[in-house]
Amino acid sequence: MKGAVLYNPYECYPVQLRKVQRMQQELSALGIEVQTLPNDGTFVYLRNGGVHCDLQADFVLYLDKERIVPRLLERCGLRVFNSAAATEICDDKLLTHAFLADSGIPMPDTIVGPLCYNPDAQVSDGYIRSVVRALGLPMVVKECHGSFGEQVYLCQTERQLADLLQRLKHKPYLLQRYEKDSFGRDMRVIVIGGKVLCGMLRTNKDDFRSNAAQGAVCSAVTVPKHIADMCVKAANLIGLDYCGVDVLLGEEPKLCEVNSNAAFEAMEACTGVNVAQAYARHIAKCMQQK
Ligand SMILES: Nc1ncnc2c1ncn2[C@@H]1O[C@H](COP(=O)(O)OP(=O)(O)O)[C@@H](O)[C@H]1O
Ligand SMILES: [Mg+2]
Repeated sequence: MKGAVLYNPYECYPVQLRKVQRMQQELSALGIEVQTLPNDGTFVYLRNGGVHCDLQADFVLYLDKERIVPRLLERCGLRVFNSAAATEICDDKLLTHAFLADSGIPMPDTIVGPLCYNPDAQVSDGYIRSVVRALGLPMVVKECHGSFGEQVYLCQTERQLADLLQRLKHKPYLLQRYEKDSFGRDMRVIVIGGKVLCGMLRTNKDDFRSNAAQGAVCSAVTVPKHIADMCVKAANLIGLDYCGVDVLLGEEPKLCEVNSNAAFEAMEACTGVNVAQAYARHIAKCMQQK
């Protein structure tokens, strides 16, 4: 069996590059012939009214978030882990919330940020007042596309919010109720093939964002059943083979986001679980059943 591991060509985080190597190792250990390739669009593209594909592989392990390449690969008959549809839903935080909106999964109150097509336009005071009335202050604002907590903001005042939205107005973003009980802490849960594999608590005493990249400390945790059920439900509804679900903690745990391309190094280090091996085994099992 042959597999191709695709990763983002602009990848600059060493942790993401090590992930590519780890997956290659674990797939190879199962007797799978693996090639790794930057996902630069040169091996699957539109040509002569069809899709041309140069990849010599039975499946693709997609360690990127771009949404169209996996669609083209699936058109060519390749099994892609995660599927194009699942990657697309997770890549956009707003789409994830909208997709799961009527699932019964608790999520923070969320407003869709309006898109701006006029460079001279100003965010109006009336708009700021309306969103503050709906969600209160402080308020969380997130760009729809982002990772490592870098595109997630907490606004304390109407002024800060107005300045931020003025800056973000040309990008897709969402506004969200700040879940204050979850300040600097959340639970990251890895789900593979519809089962919870492991989980960790992430705690950051200096920042509301509990990403490891923002300085959070990670510790292994046994995922309580109600949180495990929630994560599995989200993963199954979206159709994910592999994901890392972020859960905000409080009286009622709430789904924060679902990462289709979740890093697993910190998880492996603190839980001792071989996440890469579990994902590789899941892929091999799916391919054998095909
Ligand atoms: N609504 C919220 N209330 C409180 N904290 C939040 C909220 N949304 C996100 N956070 C915090 O910010 C972190 C990063 O947000 P997340 O949506 O997971 O973005 P990223 O993709 O950058 O990790 C979360 O892990 C959590 O600690
Ligand atoms: Mg996150």
